[in-house]
Amino acid sequence: MNKKPLLFASSEVYPFVKTGGLADVSHSLPKALGETYEVCVVLPLYQSIDRKRFNIKLMESFEVIMGGITYAVELHGTRYEDGEYRFFYLPLLCDREFLYGPPECGYEDNALRFALFSYAVTEMLRRESYCVAHLNDWQCALVALLVKEDPTISTKTLYTIHNLAYQGVFDPHVLPQIGIDERYYTMEALEFYNQVNFMKAGIVYADAITTVSPTYAKEILTPEFGCGLEGFLQLHRRKLHGILNGIDSEHFSPVKDKALVECYEHPKGKKASKIDILKHFGLKGGTKPLFVFIGRFAHQKGIDLLIETLPKMAELECNIALLGEGDEAYHTVLQSIAEDYRNISLTYGYDESLSRRMYAAADFLVMPSLFEPCGLNQMIAFAYGAVPIVSRVGGLVDTVKKYESFDTESRSGFGVFITTPTSKSLLSAVKKGCELYTEKKRFETIANHNMQCDFSWSESAKAYIKIYTRLMK
Ligand code: GLC
Repeated sequence: MNKKPLLFASSEVYPFVKTGGLADVSHSLPKALGETYEVCVVLPLYQSIDRKRFNIKLMESFEVIMGGITYAVELHGTRYEDGEYRFFYLPLLCDREFLYGPPECGYEDNALRFALFSYAVTEMLRRESYCVAHLNDWQCALVALLVKEDPTISTKTLYTIHNLAYQGVFDPHVLPQIGIDERYYTMEALEFYNQVNFMKAGIVYADAITTVSPTYAKEILTPEFGCGLEGFLQLHRRKLHGILNGIDSEHFSPVKDKALVECYEHPKGKKASKIDILKHFGLKGGTKPLFVFIGRFAHQKGIDLLIETLPKMAELECNIALLGEGDEAYHTVLQSIAEDYRNISLTYGYDESLSRRMYAAADFLVMPSLFEPCGLNQMIAFAYGAVPIVSRVGGLVDTVKKYESFDTESRSGFGVFITTPTSKSLLSAVKKGCELYTEKKRFETIANHNMQCDFSWSESAKAYIKIYTRLMK
């Protein structure tokens, strides 16, 4: 049977380029859909993408007209691990040091850059026939509107919100430059507190909307998590679905991960990794529990809570290793804490293979997120036999069960909850972790159970396929 063609558009895709979980999902979900659809993944050809390594070749060129100006677009392509990838090269979009801008502040012309990306995606839909275009986050939300405007395109659109905190909000003077008519500048469409909001285009004009966990799908309808769009999302809730992300369980597998000093099938086998990581971070005491934090240094990830709590955590019998990058102010504070305490150490940067060595070494992963649309790290932690300590929000609620109710029959993973977003709660969760760690047998049974759980895409890919199929009817 011929597979139907599906276009998956995203502003970042692992392994080509990554700043966050969006890149992982944009790699692993299309891979999981590949059995059912002929998937083509499209992204910008940023200057940081290694064209040689990935054998990315120029295929053709075309033009897009936006706001009366003609832009030349180069379409490049490659195959990678059986997947088909396309890249747009436009100097304005791609020739930058960062993807979106230096941490915590976007480039001034991001409206133009990502509107252009959306125009190029739409042009692809015009030139080739795709059944469904799966659009991700604000960077390609305008595609939903551009498709609706063009009667020659019959492609259905599905829009996924990975993080409502990033909406792509700009001054309305960009409207003529991005070729969007004034009539869309209304409350029912793109206007948002006297600004233009790209994400709203995805919400209004896409045929279906998804977000990355069932709990987050409910949370975003409330003022606490709705980032000002809760009322608007409520209006469109009939087409909103929460589908839990998965992880690429072939990639995140301690049984065959080449980054590890020693592969393992049981938490007992983590010892060599722990020695390796303690050495890397200059920490001492292999018998003490090792807590790790891996992630962006951003408010969302609970860094303020972590900073407040670290000195108290340091008084416990444990080691703490931190890996991440992001906000410079956070980095400075974390650095000075790491200098003050012998059992806390920090590596600044994003290092994919070091992160996997850390999951393998860790007894606990700390994730004090203030909000978390899905979160992938807790699932990776499960796979590597590290017990997650998580806040009670978003996808963390959907993936973690409290260890006090551990049940061998359950198919869920178990961890420790930080009951409220306070330093006191975080500290008490870490203490619980330390206590659990002293009950060696119980700790190992839980970690081993977690390692066997299935967090792959198999179920969630089916949920997406169900929506695509319905849209195509
Ligand atoms: C964003 C969210 C994260 C989610 C990821 C992939 O990074 O913050 O929770 O797991 O997107 O959907």
